[in-house]
Amino acid sequence: MARPRIVRTVKALRAAVAAWRRKGDRIALVPTMGALHDGHMSLVKLARRRADRVVASIFVNPAQFAPHEDFARYPRTWKTDLARLRAENADLVFAPALAEIYPAGFATQVVLTGPALGLETDFRPHFFAGVATVVAKLLIEAMPDLALFGEKDYQQLLVIRRLARDLDLPVKIVGAPIVRERDGLALSSRNAYLSPAERAAAPTLHRVLEESAAAIRSGEAIATVLARGRGRIAGAGFKLDYLEARHAETLAPVASMKDGPVRLLVAAKIGATRLIDNVGVGRLTGR
Ligand code: PAF
Repeated sequence: MARPRIVRTVKALRAAVAAWRRKGDRIALVPTMGALHDGHMSLVKLARRRADRVVASIFVNPAQFAPHEDFARYPRTWKTDLARLRAENADLVFAPALAEIYPAGFATQVVLTGPALGLETDFRPHFFAGVATVVAKLLIEAMPDLALFGEKDYQQLLVIRRLARDLDLPVKIVGAPIVRERDGLALSSRNAYLSPAERAAAPTLHRVLEESAAAIRSGEAIATVLARGRGRIAGAGFKLDYLEARHAETLAPVASMKDGPVRLLVAAKIGATRLIDNVGVGRLTGR
């Protein structure tokens, strides 16, 4: 059979996965909204190394977009996505229609606290309920042994880890490092929206994160470092949503490295495009 096999219904997905399970195969799921870039492909490659069967889902999930956001113009690049998945030997692509995921009368949403509070939620209050609901459905539908998510959406990764733990979903949630352009810009499907001038300014976010992390590691007070970083981001033409230092595992606010491991997270708009990024600062050692 041609690979990857394309499956549009939950029933067909379950049948394919059940057949692999009977043979004792280990199954990995890479949930995506398509517009695949090298960051997604790093997840597929990692899945390939960790499992016998790799399923990628492609579903642009309307529930995680607010009415004023970019659902309608979100890039849809089915042909190239499929070619990339074929090149990486994905076994199956689950590409359901809207009504397969949200049939008429759909009325359920996952309610979140913990790592979902603050940061993204302050600016996109609808976002994690939409993500968690669709990811819970995908995990229940595919029943993979592991599911892979990029650290670029760091808060999302922690929310999904918590979701899987709290709902006793029998799946290992695996996070994978951010893939970056040579100038440091984190890969994102939304980078396609950037004008040449915005693209030139965009790596500022990563530069500020790295310089802030270095300053905190060298002993400078977190509050001072963040104030300087916020100024630099605004000065480069961004509208800043947040630049914050948080506990890397709980996302609780941290005042110093003593409260760490620390993660720096940023979200900012350049023109009409909202970008997010994050870096690890590390843990206090031997001081
Ligand atoms: O990170 C994404 O692309 C999406 O939020 C996800 C996890 C596929 C859910 O729609």
